[in-house]
Amino acid sequence: MMKSPVIKTTLPGPKARKLIEQDNTYVSPSYTRYYPLVVEKGRGLWVYDVDGNVFLDFTAGIAVCATGHCHPRVVQAIKEQADLLLHMSGTDFYYKSQIILAEKLASLAPGKGNNKVYFGNSGAEAVEAAFKLARWHTQRELNLAFYGAFHGRTMGALSLTASKAIQKKHYNPLVPGITHIPYAYCYRCPYNLSYPQCELGCVQWVEDTLFRTTIPPEEVAAIIVEPIQGEGGYIVPPPEFHRKLNNIAKKYDILYVVDEVQSGMGRTGKMFAMEHFGVDPDIIALAKGIASGMPLGALMARTEIMDWEAGSHASTFGGNPVSCRSALATIELLEQGLMDNAAIQGTYLMQGLRKLQQLYECIGDVRGKGLMVGVEFVKDRENKEPAREWRNQIIKKAFQNGLLLLGCGENSIRFCPALTVSTAEIDKCLSIFHDVVREVTG
Ligand SMILES: Cc1ncc(COP(=O)(O)O)c(C=O)c1O
Repeated sequence: MMKSPVIKTTLPGPKARKLIEQDNTYVSPSYTRYYPLVVEKGRGLWVYDVDGNVFLDFTAGIAVCATGHCHPRVVQAIKEQADLLLHMSGTDFYYKSQIILAEKLASLAPGKGNNKVYFGNSGAEAVEAAFKLARWHTQRELNLAFYGAFHGRTMGALSLTASKAIQKKHYNPLVPGITHIPYAYCYRCPYNLSYPQCELGCVQWVEDTLFRTTIPPEEVAAIIVEPIQGEGGYIVPPPEFHRKLNNIAKKYDILYVVDEVQSGMGRTGKMFAMEHFGVDPDIIALAKGIASGMPLGALMARTEIMDWEAGSHASTFGGNPVSCRSALATIELLEQGLMDNAAIQGTYLMQGLRKLQQLYECIGDVRGKGLMVGVEFVKDRENKEPAREWRNQIIKKAFQNGLLLLGCGENSIRFCPALTVSTAEIDKCLSIFHDVVREVTG
């Protein structure tokens, strides 16, 4: 019989409540918790809280646990490495797992082997490194990034981010020289145009207006872009968006820097989401799903671009041996079927959500690739007024019913389960989601 969530206490349960009180006293108040889930253990798509409640996890720890919680082969690799060596610092010494992982990633990246890899510990560090490498290599000072983008919270990555004002509040001045431009958010076109009649006017505007009036293109180091916007609302641009933008970048020797932190590592059904768009980026930033939950960030660039000198950038913990072994096990699993599963199950999930869209006016848009799927809620299909409150209530009610979801953008919900997800688990998710949407908006 198909496994179901089991909720046997009021939520949060007594043990969870006590821990949350402690958390309130001792843990930074800057974190954003949607609902009071206190996790004890995880297996596959299933998460167990401290009171013995069982949840179906469609968040994968914010798109991180690509192979599911505690995949036995990943855990085995971690244990083996933990017995051998926990840390030595790849910045000052050599060890096998970092070298083997770099070779593997280099073989996967566009350029097929003619790449080098820099290791950090997080998405923000990978982006930070990309930002610095682009400046180092081009010796240019300006950059373009996008409204709605999320690239992390260190000062450099935050300067590229343009997702929510709270993320920047009281932190100015940030790194200068960054111009944010509109993303191809066709459901709410910033130029009020319609695709495909618009002929991607948003991209042409960069060359025709921006580069002619305010930004000398020969001073631009990089265009930094997510293949599919993540935190911004799981926004999939039109198929030719990146190709057109990259063509403009190439014309002016501007680097195309792609943030695959959320979209990468098989989540969209291809190893890197940019493969859907037929563009070979100059630099790729990776993290989240790369090591199934162990902290690791990576930056890949073609050998001729990664030309910085010894001492110009490094991090003590970057490329930790245990994280590298976890990443190698993760990549093996992705290649042995999980990436294909993401494509198949992603299509199934989208079909299910599109059927719900036909039943509920409040589901304005369903979009995504593979297992990176977003649902945007509106008060009314015609005027598309964002239904932020409904979205928030649906997430909270789903939790009460044993389904873990996360928001993105102003009024969207993201579905980013582990790539191990089964059809039966998607059916269960859709069934709970359906009940909750009906209850909240009906
Ligand atoms: C596209 C993207 N880039 C960068 C980051 C930052 O990653 P981290 O939180 O590991 O620093 C995130 C995190 O959500 C992300 O989605």
